[in-house]
Amino acid sequence: MPKVRLIGGFKDPLTRPRYIIWTGAVVLLLAAFVVTALGVTSTYWFCAEVCHKVQDDSIIAYDRSAHSEVSCMACHVPVGITPIGFVLKKAEALGELYLTATNKFHLPLNPDSHLALSRKYFPEKQCNQCHNLELRPVTPSPGIIIDHAVHSENDIQCTACHNRTAHVEDFDLTLTDPNTGEPNQKHDDFMLMTACFRCHTLTEDSPSGIWAPGACEACHTPGFELMPDNHRVEGFYELFGESSGHAEMAREEYERAGEAFTEWQAHVGDLTDYDLPVVPVAAVNYCSTCHVEREFCDGCHGIEMPHPAGFAEAHGDDGRARPEVCETCHATAEGVDFCNACHHPQGDPTRDWIPQHMGAVRESGAQACFDCHAPTYCAECHVRGGS
Ligand code: HEC
Ligand code: HEC
Ligand code: HEC
Ligand code: HEC
Ligand code: HEC
Ligand code: HEC
Ligand code: HEC
Ligand code: HEC
Ligand code: HEC
Ligand code: HEC
Ligand code: HEC
Repeated sequence: MPKVRLIGGFKDPLTRPRYIIWTGAVVLLLAAFVVTALGVTSTYWFCAEVCHKVQDDSIIAYDRSAHSEVSCMACHVPVGITPIGFVLKKAEALGELYLTATNKFHLPLNPDSHLALSRKYFPEKQCNQCHNLELRPVTPSPGIIIDHAVHSENDIQCTACHNRTAHVEDFDLTLTDPNTGEPNQKHDDFMLMTACFRCHTLTEDSPSGIWAPGACEACHTPGFELMPDNHRVEGFYELFGESSGHAEMAREEYERAGEAFTEWQAHVGDLTDYDLPVVPVAAVNYCSTCHVEREFCDGCHGIEMPHPAGFAEAHGDDGRARPEVCETCHATAEGVDFCNACHHPQGDPTRDWIPQHMGAVRESGAQACFDCHAPTYCAECHVRGGS
């Protein structure tokens, strides 16, 4: 006969207290463990040291940011989260622990700055816990204008621009990653002008789902130097001179941005309702942030560039009709006859060719002339003119 007697479905009151004490102790211990674990896993020490390898880059960047005294949790745990939600979020992170322990993570983390674009992870209220832009006057850099309120009204969260504010990467490439020795710059900086031009454009079209004005005056104060330094290097553009600099920069830029845009189009379907519908910064063509190509570039070129197929064989009529267009690129100095500069390079293109042509024939013979001229061409003058 077992010692335990049942009274009204309960265990013997004599043995009950021990059960209660042990159960209570276990529950208390567990609770203490969970609380400590939740606390510990929320500290800088845990985030920075235990998850060390995975987050190295993000921590180096955090340490040199204005938020280096702000807890990771203040930004990375949703505002007003319930205790249950908090525990669930920790449980979710266990999956990442597995990836960390098994070395199955990919670096850099968050390569496309997807977190910053998610209104779910970084809604405005996350930042407004501490910042109140209605009360705090903002002092932008000289020459820059920012209107915070209008973006708020358009549901554009803080991190759509301040994506690296707590993880300031090395944009002047002086700080290196201790693991690779490479510059610690792995994400786009949404504070650059090209990033503003994910939405702002000079034309009526935006590459993204949101449009805003791109006129210089919208974001720059009068007197701001609008021409970038890279335009001032030798060979960028010079009337009657070397201009291949801008051409090369344009060719590279169109190829690079074109590829990024095509790649983006293939992934556009992955966007969720929470994501800000903007193209990656890489898909923004740098030249187009300051120039409307169809007007500015075409206006100076005056002609389809590069020249269309067949143009080399049949440009005479076009060239005679509007020589000033060809001169932009083909005349090396004012007063040069650019037709002769190409056709009769033996001569001096600033002087009439007729009095010079016999010299060329005497020097190197007439054979080279027949690349372009039929022998009957010479005869037209020579037979009639009698020379
Ligand atoms: C002021 C807010 C803020 C604080 C404080 C903060 N973060 Fe972040 N963190 C962000 C934002 C915003 C992003 C998204 C960046 C992006 O998408 O470009 C981010 C991204 C990350 C990422 C993804 C990788 C990356 O660099 O984009 C990691 C990892 C991370 N944070 C860890 C931490 C850790 C660890 C701490 C504390 C040591 C911390 N964060 C503190 C705002 C913060
Ligand atoms: C826990 C409080 C706290 C939170 C949350 C917080 N910040 Fe800050 N932030 C600060 C403090 C403190 C400073 C430094 C003092 C200052 O400049 O106002 C600062 C400075 C800044 C600055 C100016 C310095 C810089 O990096 O250019 C920006 C911009 C900024 N925060 C943006 C954000 C954004 C965006 C978020 C949300 C992702 C955020 N903050 C969340 C407290 C916070
Ligand atoms: C559309 C882009 C954009 C958005 C969205 C945005 N900001 Fe800014 N913010 C800027 C720009 C640009 C500046 C001026 C930076 C400069 O010129 O140095 C600035 C300046 C600031 C500054 C002052 C920094 C300093 O050094 O004095 C703070 C603080 C700040 N923003 C916080 C926020 C907060 C908080 C939010 C969300 C409520 C937010 N910003 C949303 C673009 C933005
Ligand atoms: C996600 C899209 C988006 C991004 C990125 C963005 N903006 Fe805007 N911006 C808007 C929208 C939308 C408006 C309101 C346009 C309107 O009034 O029709 C606006 C308006 C403005 C205005 C007011 C213009 C005016 O004359 O009315 C300024 C200034 C401005 N943005 C600055 C910036 C700066 C600086 C950046 C980059 C740091 C930036 N914006 C990035 C969407 C964006
Ligand atoms: C939507 C806001 C916005 C508009 C519109 C805008 N800019 Fe900017 N611009 C910025 C911001 C923000 C910076 C500072 C960040 C940087 O250096 O990229 C900047 C920087 C610059 C710089 C210095 C950086 C460099 O590339 O040399 C030049 C030059 C410039 N802008 C020219 C222009 C011209 C020209 C226009 C008009 C065709 C224009 N901007 C329109 C936001 C804007
Ligand atoms: C940040 C603004 C900005 C960007 C980006 C920019 N430009 Fe310009 N560019 C200017 C300004 C401002 C001028 C002078 C405008 C004018 O004279 O109307 C100019 C002038 C030029 C000129 C004429 C130079 C001259 O001396 O008359 C050429 C050619 C040119 N840009 C080509 C390009 C090409 C190609 C790109 C892209 C690789 C580019 N630009 C990107 C602002 C910019
Ligand atoms: C002020 C006149 C002027 C403007 C404005 C101008 N270009 Fe040019 N472009 C030239 C000249 C001159 C050449 C010939 C350069 C050479 O000698 O290779 C040229 C050549 C080119 C070529 C090389 C064509 C080829 O097939 O070799 C490209 C590409 C080009 N420009 C792109 C642009 C773009 C893009 C813009 C506008 C952002 C622009 N250009 C604006 C004068 C201009
Ligand atoms: C960049 C150099 C260049 C310039 C500038 C140039 N040409 Fe030519 N042109 C050529 C070359 C090369 C050929 C030979 C094409 C072929 O048949 O392969 C040619 C052929 C021609 C022909 C056909 C010759 C024939 O009868 O077989 C005519 C006509 C002509 N050019 C007229 C002109 C005129 C007029 C101008 C000035 C408005 C001019 N070209 C400017 C390079 C140039
Ligand atoms: C925007 C600058 C630009 C303008 C304007 C321009 N060209 Fe050219 N042209 C070039 C460049 C750069 C090349 C050499 C690169 C190439 O082969 O495409 C070239 C090549 C040519 C060639 C081929 C030469 C050869 O050896 O095959 C001919 C012919 C020519 N141009 C004639 C003209 C005529 C005629 C005009 C006016 C109607 C004109 N171009 C206007 C930039 C220009
Ligand atoms: C690359 C093609 C080309 C070559 C090579 C060439 N020419 Fe020409 N030449 C032309 C074209 C095209 C014209 C017509 C230009 C026009 O219609 O304005 C021309 C015109 C002329 C003229 C008449 C000029 C005038 O003002 O009426 C003479 C003379 C002449 N060529 C002589 C020569 C001689 C001599 C040689 C050899 C040393 C030679 N050409 C080589 C293309 C060429
Ligand atoms: C537009 C008319 C014209 C055409 C076309 C022309 N020439 Fe001539 N050429 C002249 C004239 C005029 C002279 C005489 C110049 C003088 O004596 O000052 C001359 C003189 C010469 C002489 C020097 C004759 C001497 O006795 O010293 C040679 C050689 C010559 N031409 C070769 C050619 C060749 C080769 C071609 C065809 C590729 C050609 N010419 C086409 C007008 C032309």
